[in-house]
Amino acid sequence: MIQKSDKVFEIHTKKLSYIIGLRSESCLEQLYFGRRIGVKSASALQEKYASEYGNTILGIEKEHITFDNICVELSSQTLGDYRESSLEMKMPDGSYAYHFLYKDYEIYDGIYKESSSTRMPHAKQNDIEGCQTLEILFREEKYNIELRLVYTAFEDSDVITLRRVLKNDSNEMITLDKFMSMQLDLPEANYEMVTFDGAWTRERHMHRRKLAPGRVVNDSNTGTSSNHHNPLIYLVREGASKDSGECIGLNLIYSGNHYEAVEVSPYQKIRMMTGVNPHRFVYQLAGGDVFYSPEAVLSFSPDGMNSLAQNFHHFVQNHIIAKHWNKNERPVLVNNWEATYFDFQEKKLLKLAKDAKELGIELFVLDDGWFGKRENDHCSLGDWKVNEKKLGGTLDEFANKIETIGLKMGIWMEPEMISPDSDLYRSHPEYAIEVPDRHVFLGRNQLVLDLTQECVQDFMIQSVGNILDCGKISYLKWDMNRQITDGYSRLLEENGEFYHRYVLGLYRVLDTLTKKFPDVLIEGCSAGGNRFDLGMLCYMPQIWTSDDTDAKERICIQEGTSYGYPLCTMGAHVSAIPNHQTLRNIDIETRFHVACFGLLGYELDLSKLNKSECKVLKEQIAFYKKYRKVFQYGTFSTHKMANDNEIWQVVSRDQCTAIAMVYQKESTPNLSNDILRVEGLLDEEGYHVRTRKQALSIKTFGNLVNQVSPIEIAEGGVMQAIVDKVYRMDSEVEEYDVTGDMLAYAGIKLSQRFIGTGYNEKTRVMPDNTSRMYVVEKKK
Ligand code: DGJ
Repeated sequence: MIQKSDKVFEIHTKKLSYIIGLRSESCLEQLYFGRRIGVKSASALQEKYASEYGNTILGIEKEHITFDNICVELSSQTLGDYRESSLEMKMPDGSYAYHFLYKDYEIYDGIYKESSSTRMPHAKQNDIEGCQTLEILFREEKYNIELRLVYTAFEDSDVITLRRVLKNDSNEMITLDKFMSMQLDLPEANYEMVTFDGAWTRERHMHRRKLAPGRVVNDSNTGTSSNHHNPLIYLVREGASKDSGECIGLNLIYSGNHYEAVEVSPYQKIRMMTGVNPHRFVYQLAGGDVFYSPEAVLSFSPDGMNSLAQNFHHFVQNHIIAKHWNKNERPVLVNNWEATYFDFQEKKLLKLAKDAKELGIELFVLDDGWFGKRENDHCSLGDWKVNEKKLGGTLDEFANKIETIGLKMGIWMEPEMISPDSDLYRSHPEYAIEVPDRHVFLGRNQLVLDLTQECVQDFMIQSVGNILDCGKISYLKWDMNRQITDGYSRLLEENGEFYHRYVLGLYRVLDTLTKKFPDVLIEGCSAGGNRFDLGMLCYMPQIWTSDDTDAKERICIQEGTSYGYPLCTMGAHVSAIPNHQTLRNIDIETRFHVACFGLLGYELDLSKLNKSECKVLKEQIAFYKKYRKVFQYGTFSTHKMANDNEIWQVVSRDQCTAIAMVYQKESTPNLSNDILRVEGLLDEEGYHVRTRKQALSIKTFGNLVNQVSPIEIAEGGVMQAIVDKVYRMDSEVEEYDVTGDMLAYAGIKLSQRFIGTGYNEKTRVMPDNTSRMYVVEKKK
């Protein structure tokens, strides 16, 4: 709900309030942001001044107000605000001075009226009621420049989105050096900042730091939202945890260079902002031009980080992902990348597809290497013509064979790229991003296409369209493996516009293709999770989370990702051991359990599995399919046990079913037993809890097996291999009847772990990096 009373604008959702008030025509004061409140009068919330102090500037003379020490929605150094500015522009007179004055406001139902003119993805209302927008209009004192602050309240998700729009109504040129989507000032600085950072195969690890006077910047300058620092940031009150304490979250619907800054001012106030990165950004606006910022996404929870993450999950599911996909159960897939890399031909692929079908897999994804002369990563990007020798015929014919096997057909492309060794480069070198007369350094032997050029955008629409036109492709993996270095286009007058125009070009391509092929499920990918952001999710409902498929690494990666993005967006695959990224050996059930908390896929050579492993996989896939809706669309949270073991849990929307995983990174002998708590069920209802029976390899016990075995089974010997091939032991199974509140607050004291003194069917055998899964179902 949004309302204006006197000079105060109130934005409320179910649980949060954002209150701003006009203190003067140049001062829109940020009065309060946090837990939902009722507002009696603004004066209690206003900053108080009685006299000016020290060497400060008086932005409002009669009230002795210094803009350097007041929470505001917009200000400038001209007014004496020396904190980081969210807007920097060169005015027609060559100065950087601006002074915006309040003119008008408008409140209306629905999202921002000009959303589609922005040429950028944005939050959608979809079917949900209760979304309202507030526009506040300012005009510059000297030049005819209009600035709009736009707020949309998504009541159901406890989210407010914010953006700014600048219109140059003068006849002269202005130049933007920095144009943030929003700024939020907070009156106290006792927060910690949480960021989600990493690199290739190590994406979105959570880092938490105490704030101190000065500025922390979280940004990307690679041309993508990047795996270095995701645009998602949290500010949490000191001491706040996963389950308690006030938390603020901020994200940006944008896939290019982003910038978030959090500053603690000399007066212990916080200023935070997000928007397009000002790094190498200069944007010229001639008379009549409009600049739209991307839309920022702000949320708050008084109940800890899990609850804030759940706000974002709700928002992404209901307002970011296209309606067509946002409740749609996603298929279990097999991807041939880690199974074959570039070394495949038709026979091998069809065998993989047949094995996959046997196990219950639904979609076959043909990854890199099916086009041009591509036998390695040195050539052919841009030549999107099928290699008929490798596939044994046309793409259509191959897809038909996959369909005959009973699977859907998916394909990999990397449309934004061009290999120097490609027909495309030989005929159109000007399509590539290169600075003339300067050596260009390659990344994965490739260059990026210059998407600021419309003809390149058209080429891309056509080349992807040609592949999808075959009509048999139900899934597209859209990869992007090279970052941009020298953002430069020969056709641009001002290359400071390059990075933003690249993103706008990409959005035009994606918009056109998704409108033309609405039924093709697109999974984003950028060397794994290098472009995991809300902008991409508006076009593609799922993203390959990381090239790292090691279950232990995935605990950090998937948990970090889950603070901003729901499970239905995260691709998660079971792969071979030793793991191809870490060389770690983690048992097949734990690899599966971790991948269940996402969109399950398999990425390994299935023909190498033995009989007992095939049986295990078949059971895994049947189990996932049975609970797929809960995994993909349930309410997800992560917890830590007192002994540091992880609990991940997901609860169905109707609170009838929950599934919890206990993950143990390190086994410590003779430590206290695990207590399993699962929250979010109905307090007084009865539930049945049961361990998901899992398979144990006798290899787990090594030589210890000989304590009970009638025949000698040497570790690593032939006998051990033979037994393992055909036989898996069953894990312990525990069963309990509980109530929802028992399970949430008392918890279940689980069976004793294996501690070296004996083993029977009640012992939980849990070496390093193992897990258990528990299914909780409401009793009839
Ligand atoms: C990088 C992706 O992240 C991988 O999954 C795979 O598709 C390769 N590219 C193929 O080149």
